[in-house]
Amino acid sequence: MTQKHLITSALPYINGIKHLGNLVGSLLPADVYARFCRQMGRETLFICATDDHGTPAELAAAKTDQTPHDFCAEQHEIQKEIYKNFGLSFDHFGATSRTPNHELTQHFAKKLFERGLIYVKETQQLYSHTDGRYLPDRYVEGTCPHCGYEKARGDQCENCTKVLDPTDLINPRSAISGSTKLEVRNTKHLFLKQSALVDEIRGWVSDRPDFNKLVKSIALKWLDEGLEDRGITRDLDWGVPVPIDVFGDDFAGKVFYVWFDAPIGYIAATREWAEATGGNWERWWREELESTRYTQFMAKDNIPFHTVSFPATQIGSGENWKSVDNIKGFNWLTYYGGKFSTSSQIGVFTDQALSELPADLWRYYLIARAPEGDDSAFTWPDLQTVVNKDLADVLGNFINRTTSFTRKKFGEELPAAGDWTREDEAFAADLQTRIERYTSYMNAIELRKAQHELREIWATANGYLAELEPWSVYKTDPVRAGAILNIALNFIGIAARLSAPIIPTLAADLAGILGEDAPADWVTDVKNSLTKYAGGTPFYPLESVLMQKIEDEHIVALEEKFGGASEKSA
Ligand code: MF3
Ligand code: ZN
Repeated sequence: MTQKHLITSALPYINGIKHLGNLVGSLLPADVYARFCRQMGRETLFICATDDHGTPAELAAAKTDQTPHDFCAEQHEIQKEIYKNFGLSFDHFGATSRTPNHELTQHFAKKLFERGLIYVKETQQLYSHTDGRYLPDRYVEGTCPHCGYEKARGDQCENCTKVLDPTDLINPRSAISGSTKLEVRNTKHLFLKQSALVDEIRGWVSDRPDFNKLVKSIALKWLDEGLEDRGITRDLDWGVPVPIDVFGDDFAGKVFYVWFDAPIGYIAATREWAEATGGNWERWWREELESTRYTQFMAKDNIPFHTVSFPATQIGSGENWKSVDNIKGFNWLTYYGGKFSTSSQIGVFTDQALSELPADLWRYYLIARAPEGDDSAFTWPDLQTVVNKDLADVLGNFINRTTSFTRKKFGEELPAAGDWTREDEAFAADLQTRIERYTSYMNAIELRKAQHELREIWATANGYLAELEPWSVYKTDPVRAGAILNIALNFIGIAARLSAPIIPTLAADLAGILGEDAPADWVTDVKNSLTKYAGGTPFYPLESVLMQKIEDEHIVALEEKFGGASEKSA
């Protein structure tokens, strides 16, 4: 059975437009890998959705005076449009607040309950008289009992990152009204008996040969520290309702916790895809499990939820579900060494990025600085250097030199190929080695190394031109000069294919030079690819340069607009 590839990106929260750190921490790398898989001819399904539930969504909706439902619907379209403009090639972009996710979440809860893995427990929650409601998670703020930070939230302290319960907070106050007239009330909630699943999850983790050290160690740390049973319901209006036919009237008006329903959203969004396209979602999640290879992309802080919590849901159901084979986790992209922050509006947001510069430029730069092994820093001058050097000087210059000199001397048709010289053979051999290396980095999802190798491939072609100097050869041997240019023009087809996962729009421009559509396949045999187009084939030079250089003044203006080095150190 040939393998098929299921690829998901962590589901972006619905509340507000995401920043570049969010983009490079899951969405963009997942897209690069999905595009690569498709070009390799693999059956690929790339799924994402907005993560619509949770208190941040409810609070954000309240700020805009919209119902959570309307707020989510509007924000969903906004995010969807931005991702489309970044060239993210989801097969489906769903939403966790839609029916398929409600149904599946309730289904999992029912199965877990039937197997004795969900129990009811009376818990103490904060109730606000002023607001007339319970205050779970982020609805309450107060002083962290661990570090004394005064703005800790009910679910977690941002300062020391410790996970909290609202009742842990010292001097709690409502995040809605600021009221401190809070009372501790007893109310029933559902708990997932994760403690009973530790051994099974541990077995499952050690059965994942593709999990790297970091992923394994995060999972094992959680398991070794002893998994506590997890409260999976909340006293909120917005969320997947707890089914009272299963859990009884005590649960009327309660919903599942966002981290319980969100990962189920991967499955639900696949069901949305099936409904929209006539596809078969069971084939990806319930059947032929051996032939699906499932890769998830996410930021590091999401790893425990995907290596322990979601597997607990899936395994605990007792049903056969496809579980993840490989997790690609990311560290943080910083803005000049500081935190990108949605709440403080620090950094560059995805909509702003697109209104300043073209998508492919961002894609290229962000992959070059993907925080794979460690955190990495975004700065405007660094962006300028990478773009000007790689895209303008190396790739752009090669294209421009090749096409304009050919046009001048031979017109808009490829000159005839000649017998290959030692230099031509050496060029092809060098490319062959590099392309194989590039391909294996892509397969291993080592994106920075892949991007570096891609640049080396462009540079190799530039070096070939610089060494053979067709413009000088032309003076004494125009036929040989034409043969060199024939190879150089054929290389554009190679560059288009190899560049497409990272810079799809520019790659389509490159393909267009040879009259080809956007690249849909990969390069395997270099010599074949370098001899694909014979003399006399028309070509179509670009109307302007491939990539405009970014001027110093532009960078200064951008630093001023978004805040840069000077502001940070002030
Ligand atoms: N919304 C979460 C975040 O941005 C990620 C959710 S991933 C899911 O951190 F699988 F749970 F949906
Ligand atoms: Zn703290």
